Amino acid sequence: MDSLQYIASLIAKSPAWAQDLEKFAREHRVPIIDQISLQLLLQLVRLKRPERILEIGTAIAYSTLHMHEAVPDAYITTIEKNEKMYAIAAKNIARFKKSERIELIHGDAAEVIERFPPEKTFDFVFIDAAKSQYLRYFQSIAPHVLKGGVIVADNVLFKQFVAQPEEAPKRFKTIVKNLRMFNEYVMKNEDFHSSLAPVGDGLMISIKRT
Ligand SMILES: C[S@@+](CC[C@H](N)C(=O)[O-])C[C@H]1O[C@@H](n2cnc3c(N)ncnc32)[C@H](O)[C@@H]1O
Repeated sequence: MDSLQYIASLIAKSPAWAQDLEKFAREHRVPIIDQISLQLLLQLVRLKRPERILEIGTAIAYSTLHMHEAVPDAYITTIEKNEKMYAIAAKNIARFKKSERIELIHGDAAEVIERFPPEKTFDFVFIDAAKSQYLRYFQSIAPHVLKGGVIVADNVLFKQFVAQPEEAPKRFKTIVKNLRMFNEYVMKNEDFHSSLAPVGDGLMISIKRT
């Protein structure tokens, strides 16, 4: 057993609602956050206790509903571009009666964010959508993040190819190039304290300084 398998073996079984969504994701090949990254994401949410969360990339609302469970009083806005995913997420949010606290927006996240009025602010952002667009998401959401607010971006090591771009198959070259640009930009950005945690597929954790 390696360390990751060991950690996975220690994680408590998901609640029934989450097992149901995990089964759906497996059967329909919907990518959702891996369990170890999820545990860290939820710990960060619990530590920060945000009032307003933005999620970029809802899929079936698996991570959305988990964040809601971690901080039930927070308002969550989540954006999904794919029409089918949006419909499934809407159904799941309604089925678990969470529509009062979770606002689901259908659209391209970059365009949706760019239309946000300046007074729309968040104290926690989870980026988990098109990997090539991470820099655009980060730059457009940064002005809406309050001082001390947190931005978490998943998959920033993308299948380990980000550290070893020469190993990446041709179809992943653009994603890898863009994620490398994203990682460098964020780590050098003086408006944020950032840390890249080699957890799961790589989690970039940034805290706004000003
Ligand atoms: C990895 S999945 C999200 C998984 C989800 N956060 C979870 O862990 O349960 C990525 C999702 O982002 C969506 N997506 C991709 N590009 C997008 C964009 N430009 N705007 C909004 N959503 C996008 C995809 O349709 C997909 O459902």
